[in-house]
Amino acid sequence: MNEVHRVIQDRQSARVPFDPDRKVSKEDLKEILDACRWSPAAHNMQNYDIIVVDDPEVMEVIGNVKSRISEEFLRENYEQLSFTKKELLEKKTGILGSMFPPAWVDPSKMAEVARESTPMPLTQSIRGSPCLLIVVYDPQKRAPASEGDALGFISLGCVMENMWLMAESLGICLQVLSSFASKPVEKQVKQILCIPEKLKIAYACRLGYPVDSTRYLRVRRDVTDFAHHNKYGNKDI
Ligand SMILES: Cc1cc2nc3c(=O)[nH]c(=O)nc-3n(C[C@H](O)[C@H](O)[C@H](O)COP(=O)(O)O)c2cc1C
Repeated sequence: MNEVHRVIQDRQSARVPFDPDRKVSKEDLKEILDACRWSPAAHNMQNYDIIVVDDPEVMEVIGNVKSRISEEFLRENYEQLSFTKKELLEKKTGILGSMFPPAWVDPSKMAEVARESTPMPLTQSIRGSPCLLIVVYDPQKRAPASEGDALGFISLGCVMENMWLMAESLGICLQVLSSFASKPVEKQVKQILCIPEKLKIAYACRLGYPVDSTRYLRVRRDVTDFAHHNKYGNKDI
């Protein structure tokens, strides 16, 4: 297999604890940030900054930030879940419900969970990671004529993919943590890291080395499920 293709296919979300004592080296971090630097961006705006957090004291303060899961997240999350490996393999999209606490995947309990569960500290998401990359952007600067700044968001996604592929090629695992962009978490993390008021957090990534090397079932649609030849609907590809 072509090397680029191998890295693309091997990259996976590392939803496992990381070894807090196994740091990401400065050289590897530089490579990852340089990969971000060369990501494509609408109008080459490069509308992002990245805060690298690897000071254990700062990590601890961030880890103490607490948030409660929203009912909106629970309901929309549920729509993407499969409950057996067979179901997931047939669907070819989404993720396994077993990744979440049982109460999160029980529609009859979602309102109660959202209302009454104790707020969880971010340390439960960071799970021993020695390094976070927090990607921020300026919402005042949109890509020219891009409704809702879709092009700007795509560009932030390109940054994510470049950093992820470079991390993968260096043997470093990564998990995206969207919860850093939720309003209550964003507000506190911005304060802790002195992020200017006008900037927003797009996402955070936790980097590191897993304590064990479990891989989980990953599914994808087939090329013929999404590719069309010369006209929509022509599957002769
Ligand atoms: C914009 C974006 C946000 C994501 N947010 C999260 C997240 O908050 N937590 C998480 O575990 N994975 C997150 N992911 C990872 C996806 O769930 C994952 O890429 C998808 O399930 C496919 O699995 P794979 O990465 O192992 O191939 C995110 C991915 C993207 C592109």
